[in-house]
Amino acid sequence: MKKVIKNGTIVTATDIYDADVLIENGVISLIGENLSTQGAEVVDAKGCYIFPGGIDPHTHLEMPFGGTVTKDDFETGTIAAAFGGTTTVIDFCITEKGEPLKNAIETWHAKSKNKAVIDYGFHLMIGEVNEAVLNELPTVIEDEGITSFKVFMAYKNVFQADDETLFRTLIAAKDLGALVMVHAENGDVVDYLTKKALEQGNTDPIYHALTRPPEIEGEATGRAATFTGLANSQLYVVHVSCADAVRKIAEARDNGIDVWGETCPQYLVLDQTYLERPNFEGAKYVWSPPLREKWNQDVLWNALKTGQLQTIGSDQCSFDFKGQKDLGKDDFSKIPNGGPIIEDRISILFSEGVKKGRITLNQFVDITSTRSAKLFGLYPKKGTIAVGVDADIVIFDPTVDRTISAETHHMAVDYNAFEGMKVTGEPVTVLSRGEFVIRDKKFVGKIGVGQYLKRAKYGERKQTEEDNTLKI
Ligand code: URP
Ligand code: ZN
Ligand code: ZN
Repeated sequence: MKKVIKNGTIVTATDIYDADVLIENGVISLIGENLSTQGAEVVDAKGCYIFPGGIDPHTHLEMPFGGTVTKDDFETGTIAAAFGGTTTVIDFCITEKGEPLKNAIETWHAKSKNKAVIDYGFHLMIGEVNEAVLNELPTVIEDEGITSFKVFMAYKNVFQADDETLFRTLIAAKDLGALVMVHAENGDVVDYLTKKALEQGNTDPIYHALTRPPEIEGEATGRAATFTGLANSQLYVVHVSCADAVRKIAEARDNGIDVWGETCPQYLVLDQTYLERPNFEGAKYVWSPPLREKWNQDVLWNALKTGQLQTIGSDQCSFDFKGQKDLGKDDFSKIPNGGPIIEDRISILFSEGVKKGRITLNQFVDITSTRSAKLFGLYPKKGTIAVGVDADIVIFDPTVDRTISAETHHMAVDYNAFEGMKVTGEPVTVLSRGEFVIRDKKFVGKIGVGQYLKRAKYGERKQTEEDNTLKI
């Protein structure tokens, strides 16, 4: 059935205007004033913004990690994402050295198929580069539409790749049209500092932060950027946490190197002192890179405002406090790294960013949706409000106040890292390809209707199938 959204204010990365939106066959078919409602269901957006659905470029759903598996899978994770105003996630497909890439991709299809309630794509981890891997990459890009590769510079003896692997991945990506993503921390130095701390009997969560100082994130970021310049390739640095890394990204961009940076809500609003919380509570705040000294938050906000950083990912990687985080009760290095954020990513950015005057409304849309669509080959099908694009739409009430809590969230874990935080602004209704997923703050979607997204190559834009006239 046709739908017309009435009385709302449309916000894109560039415009803000009042208009009605007509939705037919899953796409936006018309935008204008006083659109006819004949034969259409009317959706009232009075007092609300109409945003393009959020794109979360960084999730780990049902991922084996740290001796356990992340708690939210493609069902609970995408439901929670939708409650938070996200209509597309791009998840990291983890590979095993010596195993064909296609096996890992099949595994990720099996995890996600018939489970996701919103659309999704995959990034592919590259842990080694050899003839077999190089032979598979063209198929990964052309057939699977996976056009971003992830290289971990940390997690020694688990995911960490060496410099040659990173450099060769950058060269291959340049040739094939993919974007290389890095987890930028010097894993060898972390490994040394971790062993030293444990030898000295320092086992508490705070030592997770103290053994991963900002300098080693800055060093790895700079190294990856240098390799990118040498390879004349393209790089996206995930979960930037500190000034040291921002500086390296800004410097590389000033030198004309094609480097992009993502930060995450936790680095914008939480700080290192959270890891000192008593009764092992600090484990709830163990991320890699770790939370930093508070002053770094201003640097990150400023970098989003000035465009030195361009996106926000949730780095959704959820573990229960009881039964998962406590694997590291006597040894901080055994605490599974990561947290549940997929649901609150957009609210936090709106409340702390737009409401507090740190970023504009247009920047908010760019950072939470449009820029990721462009970087990851989904634009304009996803990431904007325009005629011919997917009707992935968030009707957002900018006035409502709410307190974040595990008691009300929809993620499958037993705590919320932002427990008690007051935010202003909340998604009320969320549509994916024109169908309600969230309606008046209730889940009304269908399990398994989320579609796998084959993405365009880096720098190329995806035309909508429905409207070939849209040449953005
Ligand atoms: O602590 C984190 N960030 N966990 C998720 C895995 C990763 O490094 O992105
Ligand atoms: Zn990472
Ligand atoms: Zn991550």
